[in-house]
Amino acid sequence: MTSQPDRFANDSQRPIYHFMPPANWMNDPNGVIQWQGQYHLFYQYNPNGAFWGTMHWGHAISDDLVHWRHLPIALAPTPDGPDATGCFSGCAVNNNGVPTLIYTGVTGKTYEIQAQCLATSADGLLTWQKREEAVIPTPPNGMNTPGFRDPYVWREADGWYAIVGSGIPGSGGTVFLYRSPDLIEWEYLNPLLVGDPAVTGTMWECPNFFALGDKHVLIMSPLPLREVHYMIGSYANHQFTPEIVGKLDTRGILYAPLTTLDEQGRRLMWGWFTEERSVDLQVSAGWSGAQSVPRVLSLLPDGNLGIEPVPEVHALRGQHHHFADLGAGILDSVRGDALEIIAEFEPGAEKCGLTVRRSSNGEEQTHIYYDPQKRQVVVDRRQSSADTPVDLLEVPFDLRDGKSLKLHIFLDRSVVEIFVNGRATIASRIYPSRGDSLGVGVFAEGGAKIKTLDVWEMASIWE
Ligand code: FRU
Repeated sequence: MTSQPDRFANDSQRPIYHFMPPANWMNDPNGVIQWQGQYHLFYQYNPNGAFWGTMHWGHAISDDLVHWRHLPIALAPTPDGPDATGCFSGCAVNNNGVPTLIYTGVTGKTYEIQAQCLATSADGLLTWQKREEAVIPTPPNGMNTPGFRDPYVWREADGWYAIVGSGIPGSGGTVFLYRSPDLIEWEYLNPLLVGDPAVTGTMWECPNFFALGDKHVLIMSPLPLREVHYMIGSYANHQFTPEIVGKLDTRGILYAPLTTLDEQGRRLMWGWFTEERSVDLQVSAGWSGAQSVPRVLSLLPDGNLGIEPVPEVHALRGQHHHFADLGAGILDSVRGDALEIIAEFEPGAEKCGLTVRRSSNGEEQTHIYYDPQKRQVVVDRRQSSADTPVDLLEVPFDLRDGKSLKLHIFLDRSVVEIFVNGRATIASRIYPSRGDSLGVGVFAEGGAKIKTLDVWEMASIWE
């Protein structure tokens, strides 16, 4: 199945080029892996509606990281199994040619019994055979943890390693580190790191741990904060020592990202974009959740994290509009709700940025700008929608003096995904109600200049 169901054909809020299941609820990306050239994306999926529950693993495949084909559900709960009430998040690895998923099986009415489970495929990742027993059945040392889930597995010279997201009772969030010769027998080593609960919460969901340049990076989604944090540092003797810390998509809609190393050696990342409208509206729409555009992570020369969309998404670019030395104002020639926009500014003493999804009468409009006084990137959504209002999103961003500002925006119906100077991202939702909320404008105050503006009309990823 490649296309979107017809019943969504007239739904102007549903994204067309951010990955989504054919219908219903999706949350975390799971098991992302490139296998014999093709990219596989699994995801937390509820086949029963556009609300969280009865977690399955949905599955899709792509040749080019852009166009996706839906495949049958990969994992479903097994009655009486260790995943009887849900197949929670996890990862995929290549075990000497055997595709292997390691994921959290949950049981119990409140999903409180969490164990790490394993499944393999003998038909090229289509169908999956589960091991009956969990491979890491309980937290270490009989600890009564606030959660024990979302295994992330990698290979080192002396065997397989896994981290499992958790928290130390009475202390901070953690990931427990394990080692195994065969992915089945696991030896607990130690916490890779324990966080300060005042800064990184009490329970870390969806950890990722990988080498990047000559450093290691830990990414996790701490509770109760529901943010995405990263730490760049050194890994030695089974311990991780963070040196630089930061957040991805501060206060935005990104959650529970998952990374993989592809065959070109790129560290790719997807993340769940949540909705910002009521559960009732999500359920009646029949869909909830999208994935970010695939991103490439890198280590910048100054040691910070670089984040860019994969260049493959250029394949979606249609009609192109280019402007240089543009004055402020609403553009006559460009309209749309599925656009890629790259705007370069020379900042001044006051705001510079863009207006998108503007209705002809200005009743609805969304402003995206840099405020040099507050040192923030702002997505002003207070007028985004006449019927589904959302608030002002203000994200700290320190544009170093003398630097120009590059706002790289993927506007996709209700999704606004922004990359700032290749080192910060902000994603949010808007739900304009008017059919004519398609206008685009630019503004530059206090001596700021609009250097160049490029806009492409974007195609759908579905055939
Ligand atoms: C993160 C998360 C994971 C869990 C999954 C359940 O969004 O809560 O910790 O495995 O979602 O759907």
